[in-house]
Amino acid sequence: MPLPTAADLAEYAARRTRLMQTVGDGDIVIVPAARETVRNRDVHHRFRQDSDFWYLTGFPEPDAIAVLAPGRKQGTYLLFVRPRNPEREIWDGRRAGPEGAVRDYGAEQAFTIDQFAEQLPQLLAGRERIDYTLGEYPVRDAEITACVRQIRELSRRGPAAPAAFVALEATLHEQRLIKSAHELGQIRHACAVSARAHLRAMRYARPSRHEYQVAAEIHHEFELAGMQPGYGSIVGAGDNACILHYVENDAELRDGQLLLIDAGGEYRGYTADITRTFPVGGRYSGPQREIYELVLAAQLAAIAELKPGNDSGRPHQVATRVLTEGMVALGLLSGDVDELIRTEAHKRFYMHGTGHWLGMDVHDVGRYRLAGKHRPFAPGMVMTVEPGLYVAPGSQGVDPCFHGIGVRIEDDVLVTEGGPEVLTAGVPKAIAEVEALMREARRDGDARRAA
Ligand code: GLY
Ligand code: MN
Ligand code: MN
Repeated sequence: MPLPTAADLAEYAARRTRLMQTVGDGDIVIVPAARETVRNRDVHHRFRQDSDFWYLTGFPEPDAIAVLAPGRKQGTYLLFVRPRNPEREIWDGRRAGPEGAVRDYGAEQAFTIDQFAEQLPQLLAGRERIDYTLGEYPVRDAEITACVRQIRELSRRGPAAPAAFVALEATLHEQRLIKSAHELGQIRHACAVSARAHLRAMRYARPSRHEYQVAAEIHHEFELAGMQPGYGSIVGAGDNACILHYVENDAELRDGQLLLIDAGGEYRGYTADITRTFPVGGRYSGPQREIYELVLAAQLAAIAELKPGNDSGRPHQVATRVLTEGMVALGLLSGDVDELIRTEAHKRFYMHGTGHWLGMDVHDVGRYRLAGKHRPFAPGMVMTVEPGLYVAPGSQGVDPCFHGIGVRIEDDVLVTEGGPEVLTAGVPKAIAEVEALMREARRDGDARRAA
């Protein structure tokens, strides 16, 4: 990970300042870094920093803690980090150490992580609340709660112990919901590379290739850009497209099947989340076309709802209505559309939501409802729009021509003053455009083989 630039450091500092203004001088904010996790025996999973910690610090190492202490004279931003250790660094990689935390990451004071418990009592003294999400990192929970207990025991003589732990939902996560210009630059990049990866998959897919080979094409494009998948890629052909979280990706592609790909790359902590569904053989069959056009109509109608001030529940309501009307027209459901929606009959074929916040986490933070009601959209929010229809194989009472057809179409959409901006428009989704792209790819492939 390259060191943060001056612009990055200014951005992280602005985020911390904003959070400290929100919580006020009575609070102290404690945010731990992620820990390394064992994959098997002495092999670790690839390290991914905790999103909250990364958002506030840009510090890339495990075993660290950020403390924000508003109003503190000796410095409001502290980092506790792993100590330098020449021998371990030969085996496991570079460490910033406390000096690097100050020099390169903008900490006003830095200590080694083993000094955390020792420093904590004085940091907590006089604070009313600790903004800290209990339950995520049990080792840190134990250190912090032990310290609070210690202060409570001594409090008859000294300062009172903080009265409350506050989860970061209402403060930091609301801040993360509205993306800054800096964040949008990174999200746009993640979306552009991910769109290229989907194009590459469309060009590559054909009968007798395998789902994992298509996944490899996608991941190759991510890695060429120094990126990783932001979540487990779903590459499901035929019936597999009807399994929502299908990740085996090991089947052979056959002519006549649809291939559903849900994959997004992560750039500097920000992920894209794109789904396309296209025919392995290059042409949608009649029934596939009918389902696909319906899902596309629902998606376009839902996207149009992402305008500032609109109720954020609207995209799902609109998509559900379009899909349910279509399901009745196709004979998948029968009855009155309002009644079918009221009784949730549509969930037999459309069982998930229409979108979620997107950012550092694929299912990003930020509340969906305020005071029990869907919150209104505001500029800077990024949401996916991803309706689908899934007719499981063997669905009773359904024309067999639809069996095993699963379609989802997913784009990432930024809410702007001027309306919805689709950040993932680089991957075609109109049937004619998808088929033309696949035809062209085959022609190029045939020409290369003939040459
Ligand atoms: N890829 C996860 C989702 O679409 O929500
Ligand atoms: Mn997705
Ligand atoms: Mn999604």
